[in-house]
Amino acid sequence: MSVVPANIESESLEVGSIEHRRLLGRFFLDTHLEYVPEQMQWPALGEEELARLRSLPFWQEAVSTENVTSNTVAAAAALEPDPLVRKAIEMQGLEEMRHARLLVALTSHYRIAIESPPRFTPRSLESDFLFAGFGECFDSFFAFGLFALARESGLFPPALVTVFEPVMQEEARHILFFVNWVKYRRSQLPWRRRPLFRLRCAWIVLKQVASRVKTARTMGQPQPVGPGAHENFTLTAHQDLGARVTLHRLLELCLTENERRMAEYDARLLRPRLVPGIARAVLRLVPSGM
Ligand SMILES: [Fe+2]
Ligand SMILES: [Fe+2]
Repeated sequence: MSVVPANIESESLEVGSIEHRRLLGRFFLDTHLEYVPEQMQWPALGEEELARLRSLPFWQEAVSTENVTSNTVAAAAALEPDPLVRKAIEMQGLEEMRHARLLVALTSHYRIAIESPPRFTPRSLESDFLFAGFGECFDSFFAFGLFALARESGLFPPALVTVFEPVMQEEARHILFFVNWVKYRRSQLPWRRRPLFRLRCAWIVLKQVASRVKTARTMGQPQPVGPGAHENFTLTAHQDLGARVTLHRLLELCLTENERRMAEYDARLLRPRLVPGIARAVLRLVPSGM
């Protein structure tokens, strides 16, 4: 899958160099997988499995998130002057739309009622892309752990785990692309504009952290209801699955899975550090039984 296997020590690339830009575009386009959500063979589920699947409260939120992300990403391709990197962003937009289509196909196959969200139009191409990208860095990191938990516990039908495996790996590619794109983008700006770009990124990250802290504080409490109740659901969905897991174990799983998924790609690409760094810091503070 990778252009250069991750286990081969390779020279580091200068961020913003022609090589970095080429690798950014090529890695993303070369690792794209073909599949058509509408042609997916959905496994037959037992009554208990079906009831558990239907009782999960986050399907609407998942479809809405993919809808916002896909429209934001597709529009953000216009930001990019380089044809190869632009093509990669367009491809990501298509993949996000495919995630929404896969969820729609699943919910219609298993008769789970959801409403199709209205088409989302981003207000600012760059700010919205940064917001969606940093949001994915958090959501996907927690989704990796949640997915491993679902796989290990058997609480989620194993046949569906197989269907969603490529989606998880696509999310790993997305955040790997995003963290490299942010650095690449900054390097292309005139030096006077770089501090403001950094500041905007820091502000967006702060907003994302605050939102996750708010969600984390509701963990273990009765499920909230109403619009936005399942925001950041990848952080809390293990409770909906009925998995008994400590925060410590969940974070450990997220970190291991993050590393495993990233190891598939070219070692010269920068790795996400922010969210794994926060997770490691929290792990040091939280006792292992919590
Ligand atoms: Fe997605
Ligand atoms: Fe994504």
